Amino acid sequence: MTAEKPKLLEAEGIKQSFVDGAKTVEILHGISLALDRGELVALAGPSGSGKSTLLAILGGLLLPRSGTVRIDGVDMITLRAHHLSRLRREKIGFVIQGLGLLPAMTVLDNIALPLIPSGGAERADLERLNTLLERLEISKLASTRIDKLSGGERQRVAIARALVLDPALLLLDEPTASLDKANAERVLALLTELRQSTSNGQSENRPGILMATHDPRILNSDAVDRVLELREGRLV
Ligand SMILES: Nc1ncnc2c1ncn2[C@@H]1O[C@H](COP(=O)(O)OP(=O)(O)OP(=O)(O)O)[C@@H](O)[C@H]1O
Ligand SMILES: [Mg+2]
Repeated sequence: MTAEKPKLLEAEGIKQSFVDGAKTVEILHGISLALDRGELVALAGPSGSGKSTLLAILGGLLLPRSGTVRIDGVDMITLRAHHLSRLRREKIGFVIQGLGLLPAMTVLDNIALPLIPSGGAERADLERLNTLLERLEISKLASTRIDKLSGGERQRVAIARALVLDPALLLLDEPTASLDKANAERVLALLTELRQSTSNGQSENRPGILMATHDPRILNSDAVDRVLELREGRLV
């Protein structure tokens, strides 16, 4: 008998609170969710409901007050810092709200950043980089500095950077916030294609995608499998 394969992402009882002066403000009240490979799930909810906080916890960028997060069965919360950074680098692509791009560097240098710890971009990586640039229609901007780009162009650069290492788990915080209709559709088409196939053609390696969004173009799209709705720190 073979053991059941662990889910790509499994979170249980996630609680988070922040200290504000003398009082503690509860932000997440015990969130549990799971995501499989090949799934495209939206995380909706009003501003301030805790979407970004939850994504940061799921991506190992923020430690919750309590609860567990497992990626492929590995408990992220108890990992030591260096193991956590490795797991993040090997398995998770993240587009944070605000994007986190380096403004004085070019588009290509920003997208190639995740390759640096393994020795920088090699020939095969360059092909992959070029494909991503083409798919997101930013090829012409490859050697342009980030601070010369529009908001929508920057957003596409951040998405390309999150995809460079072929992540198993892709976490996107408002990935279409500053995109026009054509570019929002382009991003959604790329995500749909990503979760259906992989670069090495093995379906068990398809990524799972979770994105926080208010965008009705995404929330109403057939491409999305499920919409999780967060209200005042609870999934409803
Ligand atoms: N580091 C922090 N310290 C204190 N409060 C915080 C911190 N981070 C987030 N919060 C608070 O937690 C709540 C949830 O914030 P979060 O950014 O997760 O919301 P959101 O759903 O992503 O909102 P938006 O749609 O505007 O991006 C907000 O009230 C915010 O002020
Ligand atoms: Mg947010």
